[in-house]
Amino acid sequence: MIKKGIILSGGMGTRMSPLTKAVNKQLLPIHDKPLIFYPLSILMLAKIKDILIIVNKGQLDQYKKLLPNGKNLGIKITYAEQSKPRGLPDAFIVGEKFIKKNNVALILGDNFFYGQNLSKTLIDSSKLNNGAKIILHKVSKPEMYGVAKIDKNNKPVKLIEKPKRYVSDLAVTGLYFFDKNVVKYAKNLKPSSRGEIEIIDLILKYKKIKKLKAEILGRGSAWLDTGSIEDFYKTSAFVSAIENRQGFKIACLEEISLTNKWIGKKEITNAIRFYGNCGYSNYLKKLT
Ligand code: DAU
Repeated sequence: MIKKGIILSGGMGTRMSPLTKAVNKQLLPIHDKPLIFYPLSILMLAKIKDILIIVNKGQLDQYKKLLPNGKNLGIKITYAEQSKPRGLPDAFIVGEKFIKKNNVALILGDNFFYGQNLSKTLIDSSKLNNGAKIILHKVSKPEMYGVAKIDKNNKPVKLIEKPKRYVSDLAVTGLYFFDKNVVKYAKNLKPSSRGEIEIIDLILKYKKIKKLKAEILGRGSAWLDTGSIEDFYKTSAFVSAIENRQGFKIACLEEISLTNKWIGKKEITNAIRFYGNCGYSNYLKKLT
């Protein structure tokens, strides 16, 4: 069972400068809430309550204003700083003390997931006891991502980071489930030619010892990357369209906690006071 999760929420955000000069990318808006709400909601839907958020050096205060310690959501949020973006597996090195000897999920702070069977996939994936599990999704531009080629039993046979030539159109999304050995393996990684330790190399380690599983998110699901400002607008438009049409909010953290029975109506009332008079609070009012 996976009870701990990490959100890697640092990075330089250089592609989105000047927006990211003073504010961390994951605090910028996707429609009506900060980007960080979406990956956090995914861990909460996986029933993970013990969460480490890794941020850039100097950005802790910004985050704590928004998400103090998780108590208001019935979860536990702790923070760690990454001194510079050394690569995604650095999450497990920075997070070593948090992970201890536990299995752990990792979600990248800029990844957005939505879909019908998503909660079930998340809960199933968090049942992992040993090995690693990656989540794949079909994309039209595989060269922009880590990709996996799979055999007929959905077993990954090839994994490549941003392949120049076509290998597969199944991208490795930024949501990963690892057993407790991940810290040890991360520490043994060597930086790639771009000077970072690579998540694909970490996943390959599990493939080599035949302990890698993959799950494909079907076409009824959406996985959107928010790497550029264009992606921010597209993802915002997606969230806005669904929320306006259905009247449900995507990634309303208090609603997820309430459904999970981690908080009661009292905390919802507190949240309304905390957020103040806004559309998000109006939605929360309907839950009380
Ligand atoms: O989004 C999925 C893709 O994410 C995967 O398909 C790729 O295999 C994986 O390498 C990664 O690719 P990106 O090029 O999108 O990674 P990027 O460097 O943009 O980092 C993703 C997020 O993680 C971003 O919000 C910044 C944060 N980050 C990144 C690094 C390298 C950190 O907080 N610290 C870091 O050291």
